[in-house]
Amino acid sequence: MASRDVWVLHGPNLGILGRREPELYGKNALASIDRRLAELGEELGMNVTCFQTNHEGAMIDRLTIAMDEADGCLLNPAAFTHTSLALADTLRSVSIPVVEVHLTNLFAREESRQRSLTGSAVRGVIMGLGVTSYELGLYALRALMETPRARRATR
Ligand code: DQA
Repeated sequence: MASRDVWVLHGPNLGILGRREPELYGKNALASIDRRLAELGEELGMNVTCFQTNHEGAMIDRLTIAMDEADGCLLNPAAFTHTSLALADTLRSVSIPVVEVHLTNLFAREESRQRSLTGSAVRGVIMGLGVTSYELGLYALRALMETPRARRATR
Protein backbone atom coordinates (compact mmCIF):
# COMPACT_ATOMS: atom_id res chain seq x y z
CA MET A 1 0.00 0.00 0.00
CA ALA A 2 1.28 3.49 -0.86
CA SER A 3 2.17 5.73 2.08
CA ARG A 4 -0.90 7.50 3.48
CA ASP A 5 -1.13 11.13 4.56
CA VAL A 6 -2.54 11.44 8.06
CA TRP A 7 -3.24 14.76 9.73
CA VAL A 8 -3.29 14.99 13.51
CA LEU A 9 -5.34 17.96 14.74
CA HIS A 10 -5.04 19.10 18.35
CA GLY A 11 -7.55 21.54 19.78
CA PRO A 12 -7.39 24.35 22.33
CA ASN A 13 -4.94 24.31 25.24
CA LEU A 14 -3.18 21.17 24.02
CA GLY A 15 -0.28 23.37 23.00
CA ILE A 16 0.57 23.76 26.70
CA LEU A 17 0.54 20.05 27.50
CA GLY A 18 3.16 19.17 30.06
CA ARG A 19 2.47 22.39 31.96
CA ARG A 20 -1.32 22.10 31.92
CA GLU A 21 -2.80 20.18 34.87
CA PRO A 22 -0.12 17.46 34.54
CA GLU A 23 -1.89 15.26 37.09
CA LEU A 24 -4.70 14.93 34.51
CA TYR A 25 -3.03 15.31 31.15
CA GLY A 26 0.47 13.99 31.87
CA LYS A 27 3.94 15.47 31.71
CA ASN A 28 4.61 15.03 27.99
CA ALA A 29 4.85 18.20 25.94
CA LEU A 30 2.87 18.24 22.70
CA ALA A 31 6.08 18.27 20.65
CA SER A 32 7.13 14.93 22.14
CA ILE A 33 3.71 13.41 21.40
CA ASP A 34 3.95 14.68 17.83
CA ARG A 35 7.43 13.16 17.46
CA ARG A 36 6.19 9.81 18.74
CA LEU A 37 3.26 9.89 16.28
CA ALA A 38 5.56 10.71 13.38
CA GLU A 39 7.79 7.74 14.35
CA LEU A 40 4.89 5.34 14.73
CA GLY A 41 3.34 6.65 11.53
CA GLU A 42 6.52 5.82 9.66
CA GLU A 43 6.35 2.23 10.97
CA LEU A 44 2.72 2.03 9.81
CA GLY A 45 3.38 3.51 6.38
CA MET A 46 1.92 6.94 7.09
CA ASN A 47 3.17 10.48 6.63
CA VAL A 48 1.97 12.16 9.82
CA THR A 49 1.54 15.94 9.93
CA CYS A 50 0.47 17.58 13.20
CA PHE A 51 -1.34 20.87 13.83
CA GLN A 52 -2.52 22.56 17.00
CA THR A 53 -4.94 25.46 17.20
CA ASN A 54 -6.83 27.30 19.91
CA HIS A 55 -9.37 28.59 17.38
CA GLU A 56 -12.58 26.86 16.38
CA GLY A 57 -12.68 28.37 12.87
CA ALA A 58 -9.07 27.37 12.20
CA MET A 59 -9.84 23.79 13.19
CA ILE A 60 -12.87 23.72 10.89
CA ASP A 61 -10.76 25.16 8.05
CA ARG A 62 -8.08 22.49 8.60
CA LEU A 63 -10.62 19.68 8.55
CA THR A 64 -12.12 21.01 5.36
CA ILE A 65 -8.68 21.14 3.72
CA ALA A 66 -7.92 17.63 5.07
CA MET A 67 -10.73 16.29 2.88
CA ASP A 68 -8.64 17.14 -0.19
CA GLU A 69 -5.13 16.70 1.16
CA ALA A 70 -5.18 13.85 3.68
CA ASP A 71 -6.25 10.21 3.68
CA GLY A 72 -7.27 10.19 7.33
CA CYS A 73 -7.39 12.36 10.40
CA LEU A 74 -6.74 11.90 14.11
CA LEU A 75 -8.54 14.59 16.08
CA ASN A 76 -8.44 15.71 19.69
CA PRO A 77 -11.06 18.49 19.66
CA ALA A 78 -10.32 19.22 23.36
CA ALA A 79 -13.02 21.50 24.84
CA PHE A 80 -14.69 21.90 21.41
CA THR A 81 -15.86 18.30 21.95
CA HIS A 82 -18.41 19.63 24.40
CA THR A 83 -19.33 22.93 22.80
CA SER A 84 -18.96 23.03 19.02
CA LEU A 85 -21.97 22.21 16.91
CA ALA A 86 -20.12 23.83 14.01
CA LEU A 87 -17.22 21.38 14.32
CA ALA A 88 -19.69 18.46 14.57
CA ASP A 89 -21.35 19.70 11.36
CA THR A 90 -17.98 19.74 9.58
CA LEU A 91 -17.14 16.25 10.87
CA ARG A 92 -20.40 14.93 9.43
CA SER A 93 -19.39 16.30 6.03
CA VAL A 94 -15.82 15.02 5.76
CA SER A 95 -15.29 12.15 3.39
CA ILE A 96 -12.06 10.80 4.97
CA PRO A 97 -12.05 8.67 8.15
CA VAL A 98 -11.70 10.69 11.36
CA VAL A 99 -10.86 9.04 14.69
CA GLU A 100 -11.34 11.17 17.80
CA VAL A 101 -8.97 10.76 20.73
CA HIS A 102 -8.78 12.07 24.27
CA LEU A 103 -6.02 11.77 26.83
CA THR A 104 -8.52 11.47 29.68
CA ASN A 105 -11.61 9.29 30.11
CA LEU A 106 -14.46 11.74 29.57
CA PHE A 107 -16.91 9.37 31.28
CA ALA A 108 -14.89 9.73 34.48
CA ARG A 109 -14.81 13.56 34.32
CA GLU A 110 -17.26 16.34 35.23
CA GLU A 111 -20.80 16.06 33.90
CA SER A 112 -20.21 18.87 31.40
CA ARG A 113 -17.38 16.82 29.82
CA GLN A 114 -19.46 13.66 29.60
CA ARG A 115 -21.57 15.33 26.92
CA SER A 116 -19.95 15.14 23.48
CA LEU A 117 -21.19 16.88 20.34
CA THR A 118 -18.42 15.50 18.15
CA GLY A 119 -18.32 11.83 19.22
CA SER A 120 -21.33 10.80 17.15
CA ALA A 121 -19.93 12.53 14.06
CA VAL A 122 -16.64 10.58 13.82
CA ARG A 123 -15.84 6.95 12.96
CA GLY A 124 -14.72 6.10 16.49
CA VAL A 125 -13.46 7.52 19.78
CA ILE A 126 -10.51 6.31 21.87
CA MET A 127 -10.08 7.87 25.30
CA GLY A 128 -8.59 7.65 28.74
CA LEU A 129 -5.24 6.13 27.87
CA GLY A 130 -3.00 9.19 27.75
CA VAL A 131 -0.61 9.22 24.78
CA THR A 132 -1.65 5.62 24.06
CA SER A 133 -5.06 6.96 22.94
CA TYR A 134 -3.26 8.75 20.10
CA GLU A 135 -1.10 5.71 19.27
CA LEU A 136 -4.13 3.41 19.10
CA GLY A 137 -5.87 6.06 17.03
CA LEU A 138 -3.19 5.68 14.35
CA TYR A 139 -3.67 1.91 14.30
CA ALA A 140 -7.44 2.41 14.00
CA LEU A 141 -6.97 4.84 11.12
CA ARG A 142 -4.69 2.42 9.32
CA ALA A 143 -7.38 -0.27 9.56
CA LEU A 144 -10.06 2.17 8.36
CA MET A 145 -7.96 3.36 5.43
CA GLU A 146 -7.21 -0.24 4.37
CA THR A 147 -10.76 -1.60 4.56
CA PRO A 148 -12.94 -0.94 1.53
CA ARG A 149 -15.97 1.07 2.62
CA ALA A 150 -18.45 -1.63 1.57
CA ARG A 151 -16.92 -4.16 4.01
CA ARG A 152 -16.91 -1.86 7.02
CA ALA A 153 -19.28 -2.79 9.84
CA THR A 154 -20.62 0.73 10.35
CA ARG A 155 -21.22 3.81 8.26
C1 DQA B 1 -9.38 16.45 26.41
C2 DQA B 1 -10.62 16.44 27.32
C3 DQA B 1 -11.41 17.74 27.18
O1 DQA B 1 -12.54 17.73 28.04
C4 DQA B 1 -10.54 18.92 27.57
O2 DQA B 1 -11.23 20.13 27.36
C5 DQA B 1 -9.22 18.92 26.88
C6 DQA B 1 -8.51 17.65 26.70
C7 DQA B 1 -8.53 15.18 26.60
O3 DQA B 1 -7.68 14.93 25.75
O4 DQA B 1 -8.66 14.48 27.61
O5 DQA B 1 -8.70 19.97 26.53
O6 DQA B 1 -9.80 16.47 25.06
